[in-house]
Amino acid sequence: MAKLVVLAVLASLISTVSCQSWTWSIYRSWGYPSPTWGTPWTYNSAPATWTTPPPPPSSNGLKVGYYADHNCSNAENIVRAAVEKASAGILAGLIRLAFHDCFVRGCDASVLLEGSDTEKQGFPNLSLRGFGIIDAAKDALEKECPGVVSCADIVSFAARDASYILSYKKINYTVPAGRFDGKVSFANETLGQNLPPPFADLATLKRMFADKGLDPTDMVVLSGAHSIGISHCPSFSDRVNPPASPSPSMDSDLAKKLNQTCDTPNNATTTVPQDSVTPDALDSQYYKNVMSGKVLFTSDAALNSSETLELVKKYAGSDDWNTAFGAAMVKMGYIGVKSSKEGEIRKKCGVINKS
Ligand code: HEM
Repeated sequence: MAKLVVLAVLASLISTVSCQSWTWSIYRSWGYPSPTWGTPWTYNSAPATWTTPPPPPSSNGLKVGYYADHNCSNAENIVRAAVEKASAGILAGLIRLAFHDCFVRGCDASVLLEGSDTEKQGFPNLSLRGFGIIDAAKDALEKECPGVVSCADIVSFAARDASYILSYKKINYTVPAGRFDGKVSFANETLGQNLPPPFADLATLKRMFADKGLDPTDMVVLSGAHSIGISHCPSFSDRVNPPASPSPSMDSDLAKKLNQTCDTPNNATTTVPQDSVTPDALDSQYYKNVMSGKVLFTSDAALNSSETLELVKKYAGSDDWNTAFGAAMVKMGYIGVKSSKEGEIRKKCGVINKS
C-alpha cells in the first residue's frame, strides 16, 4: 500500500518538473532526489539534444487486415473483446498509452516493458493505465494463435477500440498492422526530447510533434483526446494555486473550482476530469473548451493562439473532428514502426523473449 501511495505521488508529480525553479522546489520538497537522467529539461529553450535520431514515419509494410493474412483472422475481435471490459477511465488510458508508446522509440510496445529503468518507470508514464487490458488481450491471443500478434499492434488496436467506445461509435477507423515489438526501453527517454510536458508552449509542441513526423494539424487534432480522462493536480499547477496565481487565460469559474479542489494537503493524488463539460465522451467539446478557457494545461491553452485558432474553431463542436482524429491516430501509428529484422513478437508484453 505504501508503495502504491509513493507511486501515485510520483505519478502526479511527473509533470511538475520544469525548468522553472519553483516546480523543482516542489519536486524536492516531496523528498525525491533530483532525477539522474542525462537529458536536461530544456523544453522551452533551444531544440533538445537528441540522444537517438527521431524515428521517421515509415510504412514498413503495415496493412489493414494484416492478421487475416497471417493465420490469426480473429485477432482484432479478441482485442476488442478485452477492451470492451474496460471502464471509461481505463479506455482513456488506452488511448494515451498508444501516444506514449509511439512517441518514444516508435510504436513498438517499448512502453510495456517491465524493469527498474524502462519507459514504464519514466515520470510521464507513472500515471499511464490500461496495461491489464493489453495483457488480457495478449493472453487470449497467445492461446488462439501463439507468437503471431505483436504487442505493438495490440496497443494500436486497443486505442482504436477505446476511441470507438468513448466516442459513442463516431470515431471508427481501420488500423494498418504488422508492427514488431522493440527490445529496448529506457526510462530517461520519456523525458526531455520525446513526450511533451503539460507546460509546453506552442513552439515546443510544434517542434516535438514535428520531430515525430507529425504536423501542427495532427498536433491540434490529437490534442482533442484531452476531452476524456483525468489529470492530477500537479500537472496543471503552473496555472492554478498553489503556487502561481490563476492563469488569466483560464475561465474564472474553472480556476476557482480547481483552486479549491487542488489546494489541499493531498493535492498530489487528487484528480480532476480533463473535460468538465462531457468528461466521458471523446468528442470535439475539447475545442470549445480551448476557446472558452476551460482546459487544464498550458499545452491545451496554447492552441488558443492566432496560428491554430482557425483549426480549433473548425473542430469545435463539429463531427469532422471524428474522422480527422482517426486519420491522425493512423498517422501516429506509423512512427518508428519496426520490421521483423528490427523487432520480435513478444510472448508476454512486459518482457522481451529469451533469445
Ligand atoms: C500535446 C501534447 C500533450 C501533452 C503535453 C499531454 C499531457 C498530458 C498530461 C500531463 C496528462 C495528465 C497526466 C496526469 O496528471 O495524470 C494527460 C492525460 C491524457 N492524455 Fe495527454 N498530452 C498530450 C497529448 C496527448 C495525445 C496526443 C493523446 C492521445 C492521442 C493524449 C491523451 C491523453 C489522455 C486520454 C489522457 C487521460 C488519461 C487518463 O485518464 O488515464 N494526450 N496528457
